[in-house]
Amino acid sequence: MKDQADKLRKIISEINELELEEDQYKNILTHKSSRVITITSGKGGVGKTNFTINIGIVLAEMGYKVVIIDADLGLSNVDVVLGKTAKFNLSDVIKYKKGILDIIEEGPSGIKFISGGSGMQELIKLDKKQLIDLLTELGKLDETADIILIDTGAGLSDNVMSFVHAAKEVIIVTTPEPTAITDAYALIKTISYKDKNKNLKLVVNRAEDIEEAYNVLDKLNLVTERFLGLKLEKLGFILNDSNVTKAVKRQEPFVISYRKCEASKNIHDIAKTLVNNSQFNQTQSLGIKMFFNKFARMFNS
Ligand SMILES: Nc1ncnc2c1ncn2[C@@H]1O[C@H](COP(=O)(O)OP(=O)(O)OP(=O)(O)O)[C@@H](O)[C@H]1O
Ligand SMILES: [Mg+2]
Repeated sequence: MKDQADKLRKIISEINELELEEDQYKNILTHKSSRVITITSGKGGVGKTNFTINIGIVLAEMGYKVVIIDADLGLSNVDVVLGKTAKFNLSDVIKYKKGILDIIEEGPSGIKFISGGSGMQELIKLDKKQLIDLLTELGKLDETADIILIDTGAGLSDNVMSFVHAAKEVIIVTTPEPTAITDAYALIKTISYKDKNKNLKLVVNRAEDIEEAYNVLDKLNLVTERFLGLKLEKLGFILNDSNVTKAVKRQEPFVISYRKCEASKNIHDIAKTLVNNSQFNQTQSLGIKMFFNKFARMFNS
């Protein structure tokens, strides 16, 4: 009897939690919450997945507990880059009631990863009870992870944009190619329509040299500030480095295979900036539970 009453009370409190707006939620936040960062780009193939995995590993080596969620609905390939096959995905939690901690895979240096798989599509069709069940499971990640990195697909599709809007922090990756820069700008513009205060961080990947990298970082920041009234955080750059491609072919993260290469050094610098000098920090994060709550609500509205 007591068990049932406890269960009921828990469900009622969680239903209320679902209805809360962000600032109200923050006030009642009693549990630990992870720092959730969405990684995205305007143009495809600019290096998001490699960036996510390699920075995840460096952060883990620095002592943070890191979970990567592969949320690319098209071509998920976190596991391909890691050289590991994910046995389960989020669908196993939604449909087959597996625990979130049972579907987590272990990667190098203690990073954990979860494949979204078809679960990402199912997520948007959940009824309230199913959503509460899923959020309860996801809440367990807040207890276990310091930083959760969400690797998305490219472009302005509804689902990618929902991952962007649900996150407090977003890292936008671009290369110095004009097409990638134009697409990054279009993405930032779309974000700015909905949220002018989003913490947007910019990473330039595959730069020929430091000068080219800063040229892109500065120019993109200048136009977004002037035309969109939005300030970007310049998180850093990664040089174009043939070791990245070599590591991809070996299905090993380059920060492990080629620890001393230029790209690895750049990733270490970015990781340090992210945890030490970012305008946004752990105390402002709302955790993965609120993230998925916002994500699901966006689709239901
Ligand atoms: N710094 C770099 N130097 C050299 N090559 C790189 C670098 N970063 C990425 N690449 C190359 O770009 C390819 C695509 O990278 P990745 O799969 O990470 O991009 P993505 O943005 O995740 O793509 P998608 O949009 O398809 O998800 C890699 O396989 C690698 O060959
Ligand atoms: Mg990718």
